[in-house]
Parts: sequence; structure tokens; C-alpha cells
Amino acid sequence: MLILSNADVRHVLDGEEEAVLAAVRLAYVEHERGATAVPESLFLRFPDNTRDRIIALPAYLGGAEPVAGMKWIASFPGNVAAGVERASAVVVLNSPDTGRPLCLLEGSVISARRTAASAALASATMPGPGPVTGVTVVGCGVINTEVLRFLRAVHPSLREVAVFDLNADRAAAFAGRCAVDLGLAATVVTDLDTALAAHQLVSIATTATTPHMDLSAVRPGTLVLHVSLRDVTVDGVLAATNVVDDRDHVCRAATSVHLAEQTVGHRDFIQSTIGELLAAGATHPRSGERVTLFSPFGLGVLDMAVANLVFHSARARGLGVDLPEFLPERVPAAG
Ligand SMILES: NC(=O)c1ccc[n+]([C@@H]2O[C@H](COP(=O)([O-])OP(=O)(O)OC[C@H]3O[C@@H](n4cnc5c(N)ncnc54)[C@H](O)[C@@H]3O)[C@@H](O)[C@H]2O)c1
Repeated sequence: MLILSNADVRHVLDGEEEAVLAAVRLAYVEHERGATAVPESLFLRFPDNTRDRIIALPAYLGGAEPVAGMKWIASFPGNVAAGVERASAVVVLNSPDTGRPLCLLEGSVISARRTAASAALASATMPGPGPVTGVTVVGCGVINTEVLRFLRAVHPSLREVAVFDLNADRAAAFAGRCAVDLGLAATVVTDLDTALAAHQLVSIATTATTPHMDLSAVRPGTLVLHVSLRDVTVDGVLAATNVVDDRDHVCRAATSVHLAEQTVGHRDFIQSTIGELLAAGATHPRSGERVTLFSPFGLGVLDMAVANLVFHSARARGLGVDLPEFLPERVPAAG
């Protein structure tokens, strides 16, 4: 059993955006062709506490290098005020042949980067008319930091970022990091509607639990990456062209898409999944007349794909702590 720490995972993944993007793309394509098993994720919540949760995402990813396993990810938004990241996670990878655990990985970096790679992949798959030069980010946390890293990898023309967060200190700090870490020119915008209208690519990654924006300020032709899933009102969803990762998964857990389904009694407003688009061709230019809304629930197969990449690379480089005695010894064959 190989155990990989946060530092080990970062060591493998830093600078490997292209490999992560390829792994995420492949996972979506395998999911589209039915070569995955992705049971509904399970939400552990606590009595008298609607804010905190721990989610289990078991998944099997088939294809040339099959892998099974689970991500177990906690979200405690109150951590942030104490200087601790909101999300923490472990990923366990199991052998699809014996079921035995192969590797235990620190999961927060894997989770954040697979999420960001998915958003960036969506932006490359549904391009606008010209090169991407600017993006608006709503929510200045870990996820949008990673989204920018992957957007920059996918769109080398990206130069400008309009930054909005309810917390002015976090917005200012985020803008500073954009310049220093990513070489992007960031402007803090204090009015949400002005931020939403600033660029035709918008990434929303907040901790909002109920919808608070109807997208009327967003310009037609804009792609909105709705990573946090619960910000956009039902009217905003219904007015957009909707692309999701999985219709069954995203129509759960009070996401905006789920609320829209409950309101109209059907899912016909979901035009396609990202897997359907990728299977049909590399790019699908988006409508210039409507807003396109990408709502990725976050499939466990993405975590498996990226964790498997990290596992193999770490093992080849001798990273991590190997504990061969972690599991019981093999029982000698009978006879
Ligand atoms: N879809 C997926 O696959 C997926 C995967 C991982 C995380 N997420 C979601 O992404 C979101 C962001 O995660 P994070 O780790 O970056 O969180 P974080 O706590 O690090 O940052 C969230 C930021 O959003 C800001 N914020 C909260 N409400 C806001 C509002 N109404 N308007 C503007 N800003 C607001 C907060 O001040 C904070 O700066 C979470 O909701 C998380 O559940 C989705």
C-alpha cells in the first residue's frame, strides 16, 4: 500500500496541466461510452448543521487502465476564517482485479485540479468566436485559483481577470496572487453585475447554498462555468443553453439544475453532456445569442483518473511511503 501526502501529490501534478486535462477528457469519454460505474455520491450531514458535509464518491473507471476507488471529501466552510482550507480529502485506489487497496492519496489537490481541468476543458470544447483574453471569477477560493491555472494552460491568450467576492480581503488577496503566480492582470470589481458583464467567460466557485444570481447581467454568447452549482436562479438556468456532466447526478442535492427540474417537471432544458460533446467532436462553438451554462456535478471517475495518474507517476519516481505490511499477507493457495 502506497501512501502519498499532499507534497507528493503536488510534486507529481505541478506543471502537468496537460496530463490532467487529458485524463479528465478520457474519463468523460469513457463515461459517455458506458465504461464507468458512478453510483450516486453520498452526503453525510450533521444534526442542526446545514453547512458542513462529508461526501463519499465511489467510482470505477474502465478503459485501457481500469481503476476503482473512492474520494471521501469534507467541506467545512467555517475552516476558512480559522486559516484552514474549506475542503479536505483522501482518495483510495483499489485494484479492479482483487479489490485490494493499492494507494491512499491526499485528495484535496486532486479534487481541485480535476474540477478546474473539467471547467477549462468545457471552455475549450465550447469556444466563443475569438481567442479568450479575459475571464471573470466569482468566488476567490481554492477552486477558482485552480480554474485560472487550467484556463491559462488551455487559453495562452488569457491576460485579464475581473475578480468578485463577497469578502473584499479575499478578493484583494486573490487579485494579488493572479499577478504574482499566474502573470495575469487582475481587477477587483465590487459590483457583481459589472463583474458578470466584464468578460464572455465566467467561472463561479462560491460557497453559496441558495441561488442569488439570475445571469441577466451576463452578455449573450458568454460561457458560465457554474462550478459551485447553487448560485444561479431557476430563471437563469431555464434561459440558458445547459451543458452538464451527468444528467442524473446533477439533478440532485438542490443544485440550480435540480431546482429547475423540480420547477418545470422535466430535464428537457439540458441540451447535452460534456461527454456527448467530446464524443461528437473536439469543439462545438457556442451560441452567440444565448448564455451557455456548464454545470458539472463532479464525477468520481475524474478523481480516479487523476489519482491513478499520480499513483503510477509517484511509484515510478519512488515517492511516498510504501507499507507492504498494511494489508494482511496473502493466504497460501489451498492444496
Ligand atoms: N462541481 C464540482 O465538481 C466541485 C468540486 C469542488 C468544489 N466545488 C465547489 O466549489 C465551491 C468553491 O470551493 P472553494 O474550495 O474554492 O471554496 P473556498 O471556501 O476556498 O472559497 C469560496 C469563496 O467564495 C466566496 N463567496 C461565498 N459566497 C459568495 C457569493 N455569494 N458571491 C461571491 N463570493 C462568495 C467566499 O468568500 C470565498 O472566498 C464550493 O461550493 C465547492 O462545493 C465544486
